[in-house]
Amino acid sequence: MEKENAKKIVFSGIQPTGSFTLGNYIGAVRNWPLLQYEYNCIYSVVDQHALTVRQEPATLRKRTYEALAMILASGVDPEKSMVFVQSHNPVHSQLSWILACNTQFGELSRMTQFKDKSAKHPDNVNGGLFTYPILMAADILAYNAHGIPVGSDQKQHVELARNIAQRFNANYGETFVLPEPFIPAVGAKIMSLQEPTKKMSKSDENINSFILLSDDKDTIMRKFKRAVTDSDGVVKYDTENKPGVSNLMGIYKVFTGKSFEEIEKEFDGVGYGVLKEAVGTSVIEALAPVQSEYTRILSDRTYLDSVMKNGAEKAQRYSQRILDKVYRKVGFVQLKNK
Ligand code: TRP
Repeated sequence: MEKENAKKIVFSGIQPTGSFTLGNYIGAVRNWPLLQYEYNCIYSVVDQHALTVRQEPATLRKRTYEALAMILASGVDPEKSMVFVQSHNPVHSQLSWILACNTQFGELSRMTQFKDKSAKHPDNVNGGLFTYPILMAADILAYNAHGIPVGSDQKQHVELARNIAQRFNANYGETFVLPEPFIPAVGAKIMSLQEPTKKMSKSDENINSFILLSDDKDTIMRKFKRAVTDSDGVVKYDTENKPGVSNLMGIYKVFTGKSFEEIEKEFDGVGYGVLKEAVGTSVIEALAPVQSEYTRILSDRTYLDSVMKNGAEKAQRYSQRILDKVYRKVGFVQLKNK
C-alpha cells in the first residue's frame, strides 16, 4: 500500500470524436496499458471536450462507447487503472471555473490549437473552444497527476496546466502537483500515407491517407500498397528527404521492434513493393487481436455500463478531496455538517 501510494499518477484523455486511426493508436492508446505497471493510471473519455465542435447527440453517445471499448481493447485493465467518462464526474467542470479565474485571456489567445481550430471553423468560434485548455488543466489537476502522455500537439496545453498550477500554488499555498508532458519516443507522430509531411488524420479527405482501426485486412494492405514514397528506390531512414519511406519504416519499427539499421538491411535492394507489403502485414497482425477485442467489448453494453459506473464513482471520490481543498483555499465557506 505504501508503495502504491508512492507511484506517480498518469492522466490522459481521448476525445470521442470519431473513428480511431493507426496514428491515434500508436501515438496514444497503445502506450496506455504499458504505463499501468509503473504508474497509477487514470484514463478518461473526454466527451465535454468534444462539444467544442458541433456534435450530433446520437453520434457522440455512440462514439463515447466506442472510445471506452477502444481503451479496454488496447489492454487497459479497469481494475488496475481508473477508466471513466469525463461528464460523469462533475468535479472537472467545477474545478475548471476556479482555474478559469486564474488564467489570463492572453495566455489562452496564444494557444496554437485555438488559432488553428478557429480558423478552420470560423462559423463556430465558441467560448468552449477558447477555454478548452482550462478544462484540460482541470482534468489533470483534479487528480494531481504528474505524467501526461500526449501527442506533441498537446504539449502546449500541458504546459499551460503547469503554469496555472504554479500560479495557484503561489497565490494560495501548495495545492497542486506540477504536471509534465510525456511524449512517447516511438511513433509520436504517424504521418499521412498520401502526403507524408502531414500528420495522419481521420479528417483527411483522402481515405487512403489513413488507416482506421476498423479497417479490415484487405483495406489495410491496399492502403499501404498505395502509400506515397519517392522515386529513388532505396529504403533509408531520412525524414527530411524521404518522408514517405521513413514513415513506413517508423510504423514497421513500432510493430516489429527492429531498428532502422536492421530495417534498411532487410530491404536492401528489394524495392518499395516488398517494404509496403511487410509493413501492411505487420500492422494487420498487430491490430487483429485489438480489433477482435474491440468488437467483442463493444457488443457488451452491460459490461461497458458497469465500467463507466465504477469508474465514475472512483474518479469522483478521488477528485472531490482535491476540489474540497481548493474550495477551502480560495475562501469558499465549508458546510459545517459535511
Ligand atoms: N486535449 C486532448 C486531445 O485533444 C484530450 C485531453 C483532454 C487530454 N483532457 C486531457 C489529454 C488531459 C491529456 C490530459 O487530444
